[in-house]
Amino acid sequence: MNPDIAAAVAAMDKIPVSQMEHPGDWALDPSSCRFLAAFTRAIGARRVIEFGSGFSTLMMAREIAAHEGNYLLSVDDSPHYSALAREALESSECAAKVDFRVAPLRPRFYGRRLLLSYALPKGLVDALGPFDLAFVDAPHHNHGRESVFYDLFPAVAPGGYIILDDSNSHDQDNKFIKSWKAAYGGAMEAIPLEGIGNGLTVIEKVDDDVPFYQKEGAVGDSLRTLRDFSRLLLNKPE
Ligand SMILES: C[S@@+](CC[C@H](N)C(=O)[O-])C[C@H]1O[C@@H](n2cnc3c(N)ncnc32)[C@H](O)[C@@H]1O
Repeated sequence: MNPDIAAAVAAMDKIPVSQMEHPGDWALDPSSCRFLAAFTRAIGARRVIEFGSGFSTLMMAREIAAHEGNYLLSVDDSPHYSALAREALESSECAAKVDFRVAPLRPRFYGRRLLLSYALPKGLVDALGPFDLAFVDAPHHNHGRESVFYDLFPAVAPGGYIILDDSNSHDQDNKFIKSWKAAYGGAMEAIPLEGIGNGLTVIEKVDDDVPFYQKEGAVGDSLRTLRDFSRLLLNKPE
């Protein structure tokens, strides 16, 4: 087993997740919280990025807080849930430097495929990297979960990791992992951890590479993106 994963699995049961603090169903599953914190600690992560702010923000912030130059960039498309995550962090008195950003989801082409993508200022993620760890817990289905990987990959340090939540239950997420593998080949290695929470996949960035976007299914995927975008516009995030 990958030694960083083995170290995190061995240590995760000792990580406390307070029932008083954990906000419930929408937040990262408690055992996934434990793994995420233990993994952040195991790799000595100092700079972290996440898509999908919430309880996960606090779990990782507590682990990086002791490192000099620590930084966590936490991105969400919802001003409301981003603000709730910020309040939870502030009331925890965690000393880590956490930058909360709200970025709406907008259609953007990746090769020939239109995907919903977090509209952050161009070059921002690269400029704030390199990151040791990225955590992807964006809204489910087609809402930014595939595109963030392409946006993140150049900003993750070689030897760093990207963790995807919910990779057990959502066929869509497994489809995304297949697309990432097809795009990056040997520059990444995906390690599924099916027994933890709703399924986490730990992806090691082996090397820098440019993606080779797949053309297959481009029309269908792009139409789904337009459908999802129109639904988003009708039900704007809080
Ligand atoms: C799976 S949640 C992210 C959870 C976060 N990583 C955590 O550990 O709490 C994905 C998205 O759902 C939204 N969200 C968070 N809490 C929510 C709630 N109680 N009800 C509806 N949406 C929520 C946020 O905008 C977030 O980006």
